[in-house]
Amino acid sequence: CFSPELLPLYDLKGKIAVAVDVLRATSSMVTALAHGVTHIAPVSELHECLAYKEKNYLVAAERDGVKAEGFDLGNSPFHYREDSVKGRFLAITTTNGTQAINRSRTADAVLVGAFLNLGAVADYLRKANKDVVVVCAGWKGLFNLEDTLFAGALAERLEGDFSLNHDATLAAHSMYQVAKGDLMGYLSKSSHVQRLERLHILPDIEFCLQHDVYNVVPVLEGEFLVVAQ
Ligand code: MLT
Repeated sequence: CFSPELLPLYDLKGKIAVAVDVLRATSSMVTALAHGVTHIAPVSELHECLAYKEKNYLVAAERDGVKAEGFDLGNSPFHYREDSVKGRFLAITTTNGTQAINRSRTADAVLVGAFLNLGAVADYLRKANKDVVVVCAGWKGLFNLEDTLFAGALAERLEGDFSLNHDATLAAHSMYQVAKGDLMGYLSKSSHVQRLERLHILPDIEFCLQHDVYNVVPVLEGEFLVVAQ
């Protein structure tokens, strides 16, 4: 079975969790691993993240859509397409995305999904053949459209392989059918797109809404996200 659910109410034991924060944390992580970052430590607090600098990690932080002071990088996927990230360890903290990943740790396995690696995640889940929960990061505990649309897109890719009859799955799937012809238009009134537009980072949104750009699946191994082999 396959479903997007509300945490912390849902028990992830025995499931594969796909943590998603399409705008922009998980899109940036997928981009970073695809461009040669070898390990990502997703951490919850700013001070925790900054401490990794002493171990020669790149350190990245975003709060309320803006790069936090004192860090090497923010949360734009464009920061992670540079040659300078190749071969590096990265520690990152973001407002919602890294929290969603860390809240998923009770699952049997934790993957990171985005539109950018949608097909790769779908292939991984088909092979693993276990129950799946999409952990939508939302915004500070609230529902958001973009992560639900990702759940709907993933459900569409998995039609025929998983039972998709949970209410949340049906809703996400229908929403994606309505939106998929013009995701940007559908999302234009969403709270986070408006927030990012105020910060003048429209190109980030356009980049994150592209499907199947990278063939990598980030998977949590202990402390780190690494590319699944
Ligand atoms: C988050 O983790 O809340 C975000 O990815 C916000 C952002 O930087 O767009």
